Amino acid sequence: MFIVFFLFALVYSGGHVAVQGYCVADLGAAQTTTGYPCKPPTSVKIDDFFTTFKAVDTNFSKAFNVSLAPAFVGQIPGLNGLGFGVSKLDLFEGGEAPLHTHPDASELLVALEGNITTGFIGSDNTVFVKTITKGDVFVLPQGFFHFLLNAGEGTATVIQAFSSPNPGAQFVDVALFASAFASELVTKTTFISPAEVKRLKAVFGGQG
Ligand SMILES: *[C@@H]1O[C@H](CO)[C@@H](O)[C@H](O)[C@H]1NC(C)=O
Ligand SMILES: *[C@@H]1O[C@H](CO)[C@@H](O)[C@H](O)[C@H]1NC(C)=O
Ligand SMILES: *[C@@H]1O[C@H](CO)[C@@H](O)[C@H](O)[C@H]1NC(C)=O
Repeated sequence: MFIVFFLFALVYSGGHVAVQGYCVADLGAAQTTTGYPCKPPTSVKIDDFFTTFKAVDTNFSKAFNVSLAPAFVGQIPGLNGLGFGVSKLDLFEGGEAPLHTHPDASELLVALEGNITTGFIGSDNTVFVKTITKGDVFVLPQGFFHFLLNAGEGTATVIQAFSSPNPGAQFVDVALFASAFASELVTKTTFISPAEVKRLKAVFGGQG
């Protein structure tokens, strides 16, 4: 209650608070490192602040056996510049989001359904792993390799809150085996055998 009062006091205390305290994305313009340029205020509509989770077909939905429904700046232009975004991830039975990192965002998981084993490899390569279930919340600090996998029966569902309205992701397997990174270099730089590199390049559709 005090906090609410404090916020109101802050908003109404001075005449110098910016009238337009938001910058709704002009998605037609090019994105910069700080987000999208603002739409003209007169063209901002209620739906710029609204979306409904809808699964998108990512390149690896099938391979990972997951379904991602993002609510990032592309779905909610009003998230532009606000520093957060959210998504819903369904992990089908046996599904996973394999080892990956969000270089520009921390992530907070809220488990809605099922049993999800998640974890990250932190500083000094300390490994933190936990199985979470409905009502549990888990934090994955920015930049570290982490994963989520469905550790139970049926579909598991998590809400993922990110400290970015447009979090990028780099998956280890995708980077190595879906890219044009030459097989000899993959072997040389990862110590993974040539046969295994060849097998994984076929699975992920990489070249070289
Ligand atoms: C899928 O892969 C293609 C080719 O690499 C790429 O252009 C496209 O952006 C990818 N789509 C998604 C949703 O990642
Ligand atoms: C993927 O999920 C489906 C359910 O949608 C399940 O039947 C199937 O066994 C899973 N596939 C793999 C490879 O785990
Ligand atoms: C989750 O784990 C608990 C404890 O092991 C188990 O009783 C429950 O059946 C599991 N739920 C699912 C959906 O796998």
